[in-house]
Amino acid sequence: MKEKIKNQFKQRFGTDGVIYSSAGRINLIGEHTDYNGGFVFPGAIDKYIMAEININGTDKVRVYSMDMDAYCEFGLNEEDAPQEQWARYIFGVCRETIKRGGVVKGFDTVFAGNVPLGAGLSSSAALESCFAFALNDIFNENKIDKFELAKIGQSTEHNYCGVNCGIMDQFASVFGKKDCLMRLDCRSLEHEYFPFHPEGYKLVLLNSKVKHELVDSPYNKRRESCERVAAKLGLETLRDATYTMLADVRDQVSDEDYRRARFVIGEKQRVLDVCDALERGDYETVGRCMYETHDGLSRDYEVSCEELDYLNDVARECGVTGSRIMGGGFGGCTINLVKEDRYDNFIATAKEKFNKKYGHEPEVINVIISDGAHKEEN
Ligand code: GLA
Repeated sequence: MKEKIKNQFKQRFGTDGVIYSSAGRINLIGEHTDYNGGFVFPGAIDKYIMAEININGTDKVRVYSMDMDAYCEFGLNEEDAPQEQWARYIFGVCRETIKRGGVVKGFDTVFAGNVPLGAGLSSSAALESCFAFALNDIFNENKIDKFELAKIGQSTEHNYCGVNCGIMDQFASVFGKKDCLMRLDCRSLEHEYFPFHPEGYKLVLLNSKVKHELVDSPYNKRRESCERVAAKLGLETLRDATYTMLADVRDQVSDEDYRRARFVIGEKQRVLDVCDALERGDYETVGRCMYETHDGLSRDYEVSCEELDYLNDVARECGVTGSRIMGGGFGGCTINLVKEDRYDNFIATAKEKFNKKYGHEPEVINVIISDGAHKEEN
């Protein structure tokens, strides 16, 4: 990919720039907990966005997306926002850097990636983190700290892309470390690296390749439900909520809000349980928690879909240790922790059954836990 980007850059702009990349992510457990001040447990993966960048001496950003074969040019003032959704990610990162007192001047860039789109692997966070990291290096002597880089990406989603997301994806993309998952406390931002190489198991993603584009921003609606319940409990977020507290307000909140909060309360504890289990090498408990998460996301949080529930059922039938929908939901992947000797049968069965029912095979994505945002060697 690097060579292709370099050739394209040279051809288009007649110069050479510096190359940066940042990763997509998986999340072992801790879904929809980040914006509730809870815990998440992600890791960066070997699927990434890469960009070559060079200062161009103008007040314009000129950007070419190789994957979309699309070009866009924009200025750096608020009123210069481009129409194209893909370019708004880069524009947003520029603007959020400037809003924080950072310097951004005109630059040329060519970028490409191999994070599957719409699979729940955070291709957009990879794009944001790649540019946030690069602009910090090129224009700001790396003075902006890494958490602020993650927040630049998150604010880009909020202010330029309409998604009221939490901090998990951008955090994972910026802070990712080879062979490590990271437990992040999304309230204090304290984080800890956990070496992750489960002996005798494989971690595999099955991409359903369906993305249910739902109207009326269901993700933002989930967040609003949680905020309503937290307010009812007199809390800033659901972080400190308990099942008992929730039971006390049951008849003051809608049934839907009640179920959303019930899921979040269980999920934040599951992250801690999974971390403890991993330290003991107890993968059965890890797996059981993953199934519980799936059930909660499907029944209480209602962000699953028929195809993902089906993949989860097949995993259970095949004796997979743990399986669940991963990421924001409404399509995308399941993440599966499977014993090595059951792997081949699981993959073959999932492909065959899913194909029979939905007319296409799920895509098998093997991931390696990798480093996050960095400068590439030329
Ligand atoms: C998306 C958001 C994250 C997080 C997950 C669900 O990936 O970007 O902030 O809320 O959904 O865990």
